[in-house]
Amino acid sequence: MGKYLERIANSPLALTFKDVILLPSFSTIEPREVDLSTNITVNLRGSTPIVSSPMDTVTESALAIAMAMLGGLGVIHRNCSSEEQVNMVKKVKEAEVRCLKKVYLYSHSTIEEAEKVFRKTELESVPVINKTGSFVGYLSRRKLSSCDPQDHVYKCAEKGPVLRIKDLEKNSLNSQNIAVVDDNGRLFGVLANEGDEDIVSLLDEEGRLAVAAAISPFSEKRVELLEKWVDAFVVDVAHFHNINCISATKKLLKKTSREVVVGNIGTYEACVDIITSLDDVAGLRVGIASGSICSTGIVTGVAAPTLFAVASVRDALEDYGASKIPIIADGGIGSPGDAAKALAAGASSVMLGRALAGTSEASSPLIRVGGRLYKLYRGMGSKSALAERYSADRYSAPSKKIAEGVEGLVPYRGSVEGVVREFREGLKAALGYVGAKNIPELWQKARFARLTSVGFREVLPHDIVLDIGL
Ligand code: IMP
Repeated sequence: MGKYLERIANSPLALTFKDVILLPSFSTIEPREVDLSTNITVNLRGSTPIVSSPMDTVTESALAIAMAMLGGLGVIHRNCSSEEQVNMVKKVKEAEVRCLKKVYLYSHSTIEEAEKVFRKTELESVPVINKTGSFVGYLSRRKLSSCDPQDHVYKCAEKGPVLRIKDLEKNSLNSQNIAVVDDNGRLFGVLANEGDEDIVSLLDEEGRLAVAAAISPFSEKRVELLEKWVDAFVVDVAHFHNINCISATKKLLKKTSREVVVGNIGTYEACVDIITSLDDVAGLRVGIASGSICSTGIVTGVAAPTLFAVASVRDALEDYGASKIPIIADGGIGSPGDAAKALAAGASSVMLGRALAGTSEASSPLIRVGGRLYKLYRGMGSKSALAERYSADRYSAPSKKIAEGVEGLVPYRGSVEGVVREFREGLKAALGYVGAKNIPELWQKARFARLTSVGFREVLPHDIVLDIGL
């Protein structure tokens, strides 16, 4: 066989989500026992392994707030001026955090005054603080009846455990109704999750919602402006495995104290080149040309489908002793099942574009067509997105002349909370089938099987009439 023919004949199989299925295994885990918490970056640990895509029809402040509130992370897009992007990030930082109730009593208040506070809250015990805001103890509801109404609260207060802001994620599952304090012992709030007990908002060390921002590796000014607001940067280019992107990011890493995630990449070699030439990369965004609005594969013939890309990059990370760098699987993840496969292939979290684009919090307008509601969704390399120019350098210079993305409509799906909960429940069920109690166990235990296209049709709902409101 000649070398050209051999190159084709011996090429690897770039399997995608629809090519494989996860096999069930003996399980001792019920879905409700599954812990989905994960490192989205080296230091940002979320209770939900979902990241929203930095696209101008997807992630602005509203979605980023909702994502962090639900334990995931929003990446604010960069197809706007630096000032607009900074403002969006600031809004996230200024947002109120729902799971941390701001209920407290002053130590010098009277029991009579405390009773009024208890009437307004369902908490069984309320933290007590002194004049400077430092936590001094708890007053419990049952104590009220044995105290004199004119007694000072501190007389009846009792000691009790507290949680540091930075330990929130680690301890959240067993720590309801507990006071959360900063490093100086000042009360920040009371952990009181309503509803889903294992969703904990993703917070920074000061107790504000965490947020990331997309940047170009070539825009130092933007990085400077965002630096003091964001928790992480996501270097946002279509093909990061490129000498100019790597050199520019090397400089950038020296200037910023924030975590830096880089991408997109799609191969073993790209991962090796990055981890051997850049220090302190906080995450890799992995997958090329699988996105629902992506036309790169058609326009250029180049792609590294997300499932294939994730497994290749994970192999490289393990071979080079860098497995602490988390992978964000990006592109083509439309269902919880796709997300489960991406995590099983070695990712720590999944990035969603289309799946979140139809939600009320996504940044694009709601459009009514023939009595049905839709939202606009466009690729960042689509003609209209490129026309805004700010993020045109996501794509290499020659391709600016040719669109690598399309735009269209996606059905309106209501609040993002519904979508995130659906993904969480699907993932928990998947881990239950595999017998894994958390994502690292999934990496160890997952077994894949390949499907034929006939088999793929069979694992979807089939042979019944489905248009009855599903
Ligand atoms: P989705 O979740 O399948 O819709 O894919 C979203 C991902 O597609 C994004 O996170 C980007 O990595 C990628 N993407 C966004 N815009 C474009 C584009 O115009 N062309 C190619 N890929 C894109």
